Amino acid sequence: MLITIEGIDGSGKSTLLARLGELLADLDPLFTREPGATWVGEAVRRAVAARMDPITEALLFSADHAAHIDTLIRPALDAGKLVISDRYSDSRFAYQPVVLDGILPDPLLWLRQIHAGWSIRPDRTFLLVLPVEDALSRLDPAAKREYFEDDRILSGVQENYLNLAADDPARFVIVDALLPAEEVAQFVADEIRTGFLSSRRHPRA
Ligand code: TYD
Repeated sequence: MLITIEGIDGSGKSTLLARLGELLADLDPLFTREPGATWVGEAVRRAVAARMDPITEALLFSADHAAHIDTLIRPALDAGKLVISDRYSDSRFAYQPVVLDGILPDPLLWLRQIHAGWSIRPDRTFLLVLPVEDALSRLDPAAKREYFEDDRILSGVQENYLNLAADDPARFVIVDALLPAEEVAQFVADEIRTGFLSSRRHPRA
């Protein structure tokens, strides 16, 4: 079963993921992330830091996704494992249309076409939502900011996320990221546990 965690920068994904590691340890999940921990993921981070053009950036993020599926996600799902990914294709569908706006006529359609035929749809996606000002105030002021970590960009990203969730309510669970971190973690962990145990009782054909 494939679970993805999404949200704007500063939404508390890292804190949530760390706590899920403890709360779900008995299920032995595979925790993974995009951009990935491979040289392809490293290339993506370099492209973002160097402000490569948005098409290059989108294709690198997508290449990282392909490598991620091939090397980690598909083998783990084939083995019946619970897989939890910190960011996944919805990050592309939420972030890249903001930077591709004005460059392509329909960025979301283009991105969806790039993923069509090989990407794997998550079973469930938890979207952490909070006001952009709160998210920005949570970011470490000492850390170097990615250019995504800007009020205008993150507002567009969050709007895209909410539209994605509205289009696919069966998959998305919207989580109020202003709730205390422990409450968020307990809720998400319970949902994942229930879903995973019932998928094992009723495996997909
Ligand atoms: P990352 O370094 O993982 O940061 P975070 O801890 O915030 O997840 O991700 C780098 C940035 O890349 C982050 O601002 C989100 C953005 N991003 C995209 O724009 N498109 C994508 O497809 C992905 C996976 C991430």
